[in-house]
Amino acid sequence: MNAPLGNTSPFNERVFEPALVPRHDGKLIGTILTEDGRLSLEDADRVLRVAQENGLRFGEAAKRLNILSEDDIQFALARQFDYFRVTPGRSTLSGELIAAYDPDSAAAEGLRALRSQLMLRWFGASALHQTLAVVSADRGEGRSWTAANLAIVFSQLGERTLLIDADLRNPRQHSMFGIDNSVGLSTLLTGRRAESCIQRIPQLRDLSILPAGMLPPNPQELLSRPFFDMFLSEIRKQYDVILLDTPAAAVNADAQTIAARAGSAVLITQKDISRSTRIKRVLNDIRETGAQVVGSVISKH
Ligand SMILES: Nc1ncnc2c1ncn2[C@@H]1O[C@H](COP(=O)(O)OP(=O)(O)O)[C@@H](O)[C@H]1O
Ligand SMILES: [Mg+2]
Repeated sequence: MNAPLGNTSPFNERVFEPALVPRHDGKLIGTILTEDGRLSLEDADRVLRVAQENGLRFGEAAKRLNILSEDDIQFALARQFDYFRVTPGRSTLSGELIAAYDPDSAAAEGLRALRSQLMLRWFGASALHQTLAVVSADRGEGRSWTAANLAIVFSQLGERTLLIDADLRNPRQHSMFGIDNSVGLSTLLTGRRAESCIQRIPQLRDLSILPAGMLPPNPQELLSRPFFDMFLSEIRKQYDVILLDTPAAAVNADAQTIAARAGSAVLITQKDISRSTRIKRVLNDIRETGAQVVGSVISKH
């Protein structure tokens, strides 16, 4: 491991943060600034009230009322990362979750650049553009790592984020996040339990995980059920960002099915290892379903 997440392609333009003020952050920003003496409790209450009444973000309302400056808001946002920094050795989270353990690392910076690109080019464009399958041709190319860490950096912005482990063959998200996997997507797709399968990760802000659940004998058939579509439509109302981890796309048709359901996919390739003929085939297979490949990431691990 070690090298940062590589450049994003095909979009290589300058990266910037389009929406620096998180959506569900009022209380947190208020707390940070009152603790720091930059905001009185009375003013924090006033801002919250105006934000709620007018459907504004906390920062926007505070600026409109001339209570906070841009500088104060940037200060609070920078501090938020520390609030959600996880201490190694004192958590069930795997050390692979670099975005949680070491948000200042180059790898976390690369993930935030990817997040920015996605927010700029894709999220927010339409309601359907909030469900993203993370795909790659072969095993070990970094789909699970990228899906998990990308979910963390989205949640750090205050986006209500759901990570679905749709790899029903070699699921890994439950072990990365140290959570129970006895119920999950496979359980849900067989209609036995509903949203109680989704688990919150308390150490991480705004992040929920739907683990894979018990390994089913028929993953392809389960993922093709109309119920999967219905579930995604329902769950889109509750989250800002939904990421789906997938099995290796060159090995079976699951990833294609998942990408078709999600509507969008990001392709992970591994520098100097992924083979171009296999990448092209995966791209074609996914595009054939009508799903959009919104970008690709070259991982250097
Ligand atoms: N960008 C990365 N930086 C560092 N390590 C990575 C990166 N991507 C993947 N890894 C590591 O490579 C291994 C395989 O990654 P994984 O995400 O499980 O692959 P996949 O899900 O595509 O089979 C894991 O040990 C993971 O921690
Ligand atoms: Mg995986």
